Amino acid sequence: AESLFGTPEAEQPVTIGHRGAAGTAPENTVAAFKDGRAAGADFIESDVQLSADGVPFLFHDDTPARTTNVEEVFPGRENDPITSFTWAELQQLDAGSYFSEKFVGEKIPHFNDIARVATKNTGVFMEIKSPKNSPGVEKVVADALHNDPAWIKLVEAGKVEILSFDPTSNMKFAALAPEIPLQQLSSTVPDAATLALISTFADSVGTSYRTLDQAGVDRVKAAGLEIGVYTVNDIDAMEEAVAMGVERITGDYPIQFERYLDGV
Ligand code: G3P
Ligand code: CA
Repeated sequence: AESLFGTPEAEQPVTIGHRGAAGTAPENTVAAFKDGRAAGADFIESDVQLSADGVPFLFHDDTPARTTNVEEVFPGRENDPITSFTWAELQQLDAGSYFSEKFVGEKIPHFNDIARVATKNTGVFMEIKSPKNSPGVEKVVADALHNDPAWIKLVEAGKVEILSFDPTSNMKFAALAPEIPLQQLSSTVPDAATLALISTFADSVGTSYRTLDQAGVDRVKAAGLEIGVYTVNDIDAMEEAVAMGVERITGDYPIQFERYLDGV
């Protein structure tokens, strides 16, 4: 089939719903993951951290202030590290009401919850977020991918990738689970020497589309790595990135990508 780009469908970009589908539902909640799946995104992205008692949960920020009702439940702890809360405490927070009334009651998900929403069509891009705040998170994630039936099924279908801004965390993860595709995040494209090092443990680089130019795309590809961009929320930016050769596009409105690529 021909896409609107006039390229074969196989060359259409891989689409990734950012924090599930953060534009249409509260980020990193089951509601957002279901929106990403319903949109037909190829993957849904999320962020994993470890609670004070070692439970992996899905949350982006370093503190609960922006996206939960922490001030009602635990007054005075708004700016405490999210990783200083136990799993039982995290479960008392509402992670939906900051977005809108409609989502009151959405909880902070357990790491395994996203695997139960994902399918062989809509896989999981899992960012290991701020790993220094979650010591041991790489092993917790690798163990789940190796032992939990829902994760095993997704891994076998080629629908799980791990990513991090922290190269040390990525190297740790690569040693624990060398079979899982790995992405190095970097807000700008690294130089050629750094890319050569990245290519020893990762398969792709994810970067901000705002600073990306053709030289950056070419440099990543010359290192034998694929390239993805975040956070693309309009079609012009998507088209521009694809024209430069970007293979993966992460955005808050995956429905917008899918409608466009389907020609709707
Ligand atoms: O997929 C990469 C992207 O999620 C990185 O940025 O801040 O949204 O985690 P951030
Ligand atoms: Ca992320």
